[in-house]
Amino acid sequence: MSLSVNHPYDFFRPSLAAWTMGLRRRLDNVLFLHLDLWPWHLAAGSSRKLTMNSESGRGDHGSREKNEPPVDHRFEHTTVLLREAVEFLQPAPGKLIVDATLGGAGHTHALLEAGANVLGFDQDEAALQAAQERCADYEDHFATVRANFRELEAVLQESGVGQVDGILADIGVSSFQLDTAERGFSFQQDGPLEMRMDQRSGITAADIVNTWSVEELQKLFVEYGEEPLARRAAMAIVRRREQRAFHRTLDLAEVLASALPRRGKTHPATRVFQALRIGVNDELGALKDLLDQAPRCLKPGGRLVLISFHSLEDRIVKHTLQRQSMQWQDRPEWPEPRPNPDYCMRVLTKKPVEPSEEEVSHNSRSRSARLRAAERIAS
Ligand SMILES: C[S@@+](CC[C@H](N)C(=O)[O-])C[C@H]1O[C@@H](n2cnc3c(N)ncnc32)[C@H](O)[C@@H]1O
Repeated sequence: MSLSVNHPYDFFRPSLAAWTMGLRRRLDNVLFLHLDLWPWHLAAGSSRKLTMNSESGRGDHGSREKNEPPVDHRFEHTTVLLREAVEFLQPAPGKLIVDATLGGAGHTHALLEAGANVLGFDQDEAALQAAQERCADYEDHFATVRANFRELEAVLQESGVGQVDGILADIGVSSFQLDTAERGFSFQQDGPLEMRMDQRSGITAADIVNTWSVEELQKLFVEYGEEPLARRAAMAIVRRREQRAFHRTLDLAEVLASALPRRGKTHPATRVFQALRIGVNDELGALKDLLDQAPRCLKPGGRLVLISFHSLEDRIVKHTLQRQSMQWQDRPEWPEPRPNPDYCMRVLTKKPVEPSEEEVSHNSRSRSARLRAAERIAS
């Protein structure tokens, strides 16, 4: 990966326009990633792997590939734990914060309003467009990257940005993704069995249900869906696909509904759909990679804020932060405790922060949100 950096990165420089120009130049030089920098690519003329279209204007910023469907601009998502996340990140003029899950830019907009610079990641084209439109007034302080956040460290290093003051990850899918039938996340609306957040690559939910063995499906439903009747669900899928392959969400939901009992208000397909979504997007693998890289990407005193939406994610966040914040390790066979080589963070939230009753009453999808925050210690 070759990268030519023209100027040393200096985010304390007084002119933020110069800051974004410098960042633009560095990111333009990262050849190996699909970077989506609006509106800079229109003028950049770089050789990076972007589909550039000089006539496309602001609305179409060029990284959509030929096989990707056009983006619907009505992006709706209610930001969760907004005040709490912003308070932990302490945005201020001159600070640079990475929003690893830009979505509709609800958190990012608040960070920009408080004067911070934001570098936003999202792997979904629709989210990037929505975010860029929403934050158009802050173009000198805001840059976006179309990439998986598991590439965070590589992007920061190769672009010359180096360490940042804060990292936010509001994990999972947006309401826009869930509610857009064509994205295939919902068992309540008919759509293609898709579920990819990044529609440029990777396997779809249809690939999984039509080709994996009973054992592989069962394992997926147990591990990522915590489905107690995982084998029954897997058998029903395999029996049905012997007659006809699955292509549509409602078709799969109906087969699951006839194989599994309804539990209270929860639709029988809920856990299997969750497992498929996590598997298709390797969500837990990406989260582990982010947590591993985050301390190296933060300056001493820099803050990490993570919002998760189910126990599988929150468990990973909790255990990783515990491991990174223990100064000493001890084992029965050791004569005395030893320094923990992974010690690099201070946990700021003894218990996860949950949304208030008021927030849940306005946005029922926030009810399962859990926020954990930590600070990089000086090394
Ligand atoms: C819950 S939404 C974020 C909402 C945003 N905080 C807001 O207030 O509008 C999560 C977003 O993260 C993106 N996302 C999820 N996992 C990702 C990953 N591994 N890399 C990059 N983006 C990811 C999704 O595409 C989605 O747009």
